[in-house]
Amino acid sequence: MARDVIAILDFGSSDNSGIARAVRKAGVYSEIIVHDTTLAELKNIPGLKGLIYNGGPNRAFEGQELIADPDVLAWDIPKLAVGCPFTVSGVNAPSWNSREREMIDSFIDEAQITRNWSMEGFIEDQIAALRAQIGDKKVLLALSGGVDSSVVAALLLRAIGDQLTCVHVNHGLLRKGEPEQVIRVFKQEMGANLIYVDAVDRFLNKLAGVSDPEKKRKIIGAEFIRVFEEEARKLSDITFLGQGTIYPDILESGTKTAKNIKSHHNVGGLPEDLKFELVEPLKQLFKDEVRAVGEALGLPHSMVYRQPFPGPGLGVRCVGAITRERLEQVRESDAILREEFANAHLDQTVWQYFTIVPDIRSTGVRNHERCWERPVIIRAVNTQDAITASIEEIPYAILHKITNRIVNEVPGVNRVLYDLSPKPVATIEWE
Ligand code: XMP
Repeated sequence: MARDVIAILDFGSSDNSGIARAVRKAGVYSEIIVHDTTLAELKNIPGLKGLIYNGGPNRAFEGQELIADPDVLAWDIPKLAVGCPFTVSGVNAPSWNSREREMIDSFIDEAQITRNWSMEGFIEDQIAALRAQIGDKKVLLALSGGVDSSVVAALLLRAIGDQLTCVHVNHGLLRKGEPEQVIRVFKQEMGANLIYVDAVDRFLNKLAGVSDPEKKRKIIGAEFIRVFEEEARKLSDITFLGQGTIYPDILESGTKTAKNIKSHHNVGGLPEDLKFELVEPLKQLFKDEVRAVGEALGLPHSMVYRQPFPGPGLGVRCVGAITRERLEQVRESDAILREEFANAHLDQTVWQYFTIVPDIRSTGVRNHERCWERPVIIRAVNTQDAITASIEEIPYAILHKITNRIVNEVPGVNRVLYDLSPKPVATIEWE
């Protein structure tokens, strides 16, 4: 279905995403594009019905003020200027503020742009596009159980059914119940071709005795690629590799004026001779849209709304050299924390919450005898962007309940601590 589009020309705003999301929330598909996109290029964007000039603090790039293309300025298409020094079509540029929504709404109405961006429409379009791209070929997908890979899997399944093969690698560092949920949802309920790889021993043997956090991360990342590669080689007739790239990954890869440039990566690092074409059906979507698509495709709420979880998993929460005993203490205490946060509805207000087990012990008394056991540390933070984070105030009664459960239900744990350190100076994870 043809959809109307508003393009946001990035004139150095620090909040292009904010405007793009507001436009989409108002029901119109939006894309952020570089400020010097030419008239010819703009005319090639199907469905383009309006332009937003979005200026801001990075308006000078390498000492040069960003200049609006006169041909584009002269083009007779509805335009809105936000935070720009120049006037566009007689509209004086207001600064972008909490009127997130009114300004956009009246622009859309005055320009008679059709509000036809919806997740149902997106799913329909993508299924047609995926079928056209893939034909009768086969697709391989690393399915971690995270939000993005799960939604890609559900979308591909809807589009191409058994032409999709998913590989779920259990590296032993997943949370309690996660591998089981992936198998239940995708294999049993959705009928996907799912290869489950139990690589727990392999990962834990590689990690034995390694205490440096960066070395741990590297081992986990490299071993993951190796396991996935081995599975890919067993399947001879795969043409495409599915990836859970989403729109912020693309934006973070940088435009001329973007300040925070970092390259995005997903399942990178596969050997050269394993040549796949990429299928990235979520690359137009913001995270909240990915979640909405996931729910519309029938994925469980707990999977689609799960909190962020680092690639190296519980490995960076089992501080120092990982042992099976401490890993189980992290896993079990994390499960208790998640259960109690859900009971208290804190899972809806706290961005990320988890437990850590450091490699120290302290004295305690258990069953009238001295014990020498480990502490569990609770972390619960709120953040917008994970660059800074504040500590969530958890009611004492809930902390007491969690403490009681952990010291009674998790073997070898005699203390529970609550980490009050914001980021900075602490990071969210302990390693
Ligand atoms: P930090 O600890 O840097 O974490 O304050 C910020 C956010 O990033 C997540 N994180 C990671 N995610 N691989 C990931 O995929 C990693 O190695 C990694 N380290 C931290 C962390 O959980 C938090 O959400």
